[in-house]
Amino acid sequence: MTISTEQGAMKKSEYAGGSLLTVADLTVDEVAAILAAAGSLETMHPVERARMLAGRRVALLFYESSTRTRTSFELAAKSLGATTTLVSDKSSSIEKGESLKDTGLTLRALGAECIILRHPNSGAPYLLAKSTGLPVLNAGDGMHEHPSQALLDARTMLTRLPGIPAGRVHAKTLEGVTVVITGDILHSRVARSNAMLLPRLGARVLLCGPVPLLPEHALGLGSGVEIERDFDKALKRAGSSGKGVVMMLRIQRERVVGLELDLADYIARYQLNEERLAACAPNALVMHPGPMIRGLEIAGEVADGPNSAIEDQVRHGLFIRMALLVRALGAGEFESVTV
Ligand code: CP
Repeated sequence: MTISTEQGAMKKSEYAGGSLLTVADLTVDEVAAILAAAGSLETMHPVERARMLAGRRVALLFYESSTRTRTSFELAAKSLGATTTLVSDKSSSIEKGESLKDTGLTLRALGAECIILRHPNSGAPYLLAKSTGLPVLNAGDGMHEHPSQALLDARTMLTRLPGIPAGRVHAKTLEGVTVVITGDILHSRVARSNAMLLPRLGARVLLCGPVPLLPEHALGLGSGVEIERDFDKALKRAGSSGKGVVMMLRIQRERVVGLELDLADYIARYQLNEERLAACAPNALVMHPGPMIRGLEIAGEVADGPNSAIEDQVRHGLFIRMALLVRALGAGEFESVTV
């Protein structure tokens, strides 16, 4: 997917350093630095942590609902000592027709030094970054990307999978890991960001789902990414790797227009339930970015079971988002926490 603004596609050098709009902009070394910073921040004394961004101002600008991303960015900013303000499309002058650009300029005039944006339109963070000149953190834009989710997913795998080499992350850290991403791939910014990030750390990604949710052109498959439509086969490949991950995705009803899907058939073929997990990949790590619909893409017993890393994902999100805020607002401090 090519993302362009009014003036055409934007390069990384055209928006403020410290922005994170796509995982494609991160080198493996930058990914390693963010993951290392998240680890340092997790073990840092809360008093020391609260000095890192003391007095700084962070705006959260949300045009779509969110529980995990919004709350964790807000708590992350506050625990680093920053002041936060939340602007939502449902309770602001956005309802009266104010544009994204004018909303961003207003937040900048009020002293915001960084904007965290969730927006239903793919590419909206580029427009905001260009029009404000501020560091922008993409908290999910349409069907495009969710970079902080992919980073927290990577950290969850690094901490939960067996046999991951210790030390700084590199291009082979996830070698031997097979990640099955199953469900509504077409509409999923989480799938897109993970399919771009994980192979660069050495993982193999198998995308799984029926044609309407996973057309051949869905993601523009890169190296290390392939389609396997049979969920049981995909799971068995993950299971036999010894370092298997199965990431389940919600069907995004809000983005599905005119999709004809037989839900009973979908559940029979693609739901992750106890029986299927035990038969195909009994040791696989189970992940879900949330929100999950129990009884549809995932059975409640699996979500709550011993293989589940779903709550770990949420917890890691806090520290990954702290690292991104430190990177966005304080390069000096960022280097110091990644040592
Ligand atoms: N994973 C995720 O983006 O969840 P929220 O929509 O609750 O932020």
